[in-house]
Amino acid sequence: MTVITIEQAGKYDGQEVTLKGWLYNLRESGKLLFPIFRDGTGIIQGVCSLKENPEAFESLKGLTQESSVIVTGNIRAEKRAPGGYEIGVTKIQVLQKVPESTPFPIQLKEHGVDFLLDNRHLWIRTPRQAAILRIRAEAIRAAREFMDSQGYTITDAPMFTPAACEGTSTLFEVNYIDDQKAYLTQSGQLYGEALAMALGKIYTFGPTFRAEKSKTRRHLTEFWMLEPEAAYVELDEAMAVGEGLVSAIVQGVLKNKPRELETLKRDTKKLEGVKPPFPCISYEEAVAVLNKNGNPAKFGDDFGGDEETIISSSFDRPVLVHRYPTSLKAFYMQPDPQRPELALAFDMLAPEGYGEIIGGSQRIHDYDLLVKRLHEHNLPEEAFQWYLDLRRFGSVPHSGFGLGLERTVAWICGTEHIREVIPFPRMIYRVYP
Ligand code: 4AD
Ligand code: MG
Repeated sequence: MTVITIEQAGKYDGQEVTLKGWLYNLRESGKLLFPIFRDGTGIIQGVCSLKENPEAFESLKGLTQESSVIVTGNIRAEKRAPGGYEIGVTKIQVLQKVPESTPFPIQLKEHGVDFLLDNRHLWIRTPRQAAILRIRAEAIRAAREFMDSQGYTITDAPMFTPAACEGTSTLFEVNYIDDQKAYLTQSGQLYGEALAMALGKIYTFGPTFRAEKSKTRRHLTEFWMLEPEAAYVELDEAMAVGEGLVSAIVQGVLKNKPRELETLKRDTKKLEGVKPPFPCISYEEAVAVLNKNGNPAKFGDDFGGDEETIISSSFDRPVLVHRYPTSLKAFYMQPDPQRPELALAFDMLAPEGYGEIIGGSQRIHDYDLLVKRLHEHNLPEEAFQWYLDLRRFGSVPHSGFGLGLERTVAWICGTEHIREVIPFPRMIYRVYP
């Protein structure tokens, strides 16, 4: 008995194989049954005839959607079938039949998104969702391969932290042991800086948390961020790493997940050109682009989703925007020595309106300036003593950035909302299932 996955079916043309999976759909046509099976790697159409395989026919007839089955049969090429192959079913073993009284909630029809989200634990079984999660996995693999190839060591930042990193308005407070106060991390960056001083070039990759009250298609309260940080690296080099990273992710998905992109009906032409160099403009040039397109933005304004969409739609690949006004950005960002009202910061905006996928900067390495900034941002100096130590003991220029995994994957997949690209999304009014 040769057990294979549906993904491998093409290699077994003309052979008898066994598949372990679930019944995805069943069409009955008199003495012929046309089941569709899925096993997580793909779907395959089957044919079963009463005349040739009466036992299998009886087991399959009337079988309910998502019943678990072990299927034996012959693989053969069939141009019209999804995936190009079908299985002539000779034997069926039903492990669990979904009772007719409680059918699988997600049927092969349109459902409202709230219903789907309530049933997210089942929704992920559908081919589209499985394809998205495989693309997410490839994005992570390609990202890690790229960072490793650039000499960056993966390390981990803690999830419980004593203070804010990205402003106090989106902090999740946790009732830590014996009434000590702690917060869920908004970013691993500050720890990444300590690790960069220890190891040179590092990246962290893990969940981050923001009590985002905004209900948009780009915000989750729990999302994954990949955060490189490197000693002796300045703004331009950090931007180049970001550009290389995003290209590597997109090219990795194009190369290794073509079937999944096809399942999503993604227009891959729009992704093929995502290669360096990316266009690179200053914040002030971005304001000019906005004005030219009838948006009244002026120096000192932050860019919202609408502005990001206008800026990015002027380009066919992600755009790097650098040197934002210091007043808009985080306390740790290094001011431009030539123009201190500008921070040595950059964002990367994805095409097609997917917004900011990377935020990064060069960090302040001067002790006194950093203390001044902590005060200006009303941050508690005590909680940052360890962070200030990094400027007391061998401080060097250093830079890094954070790539938002879900925004990146949402863009690559072309999904409407980022909630579809994380297995179990956490949003303003959703922590179930
Ligand atoms: O621009 P942000 O806030 O930057 C930082 O957190 C830095 N400390 C990172 C660093 O320099 N190491 O967030 C970085 C990225 C954004 O560009 C966006 O892609 C993503 O994280 N992001 C979110 N993704 C989903 N939901 C949210 N609520 C997000 N907030 C930020
Ligand atoms: Mg940002």
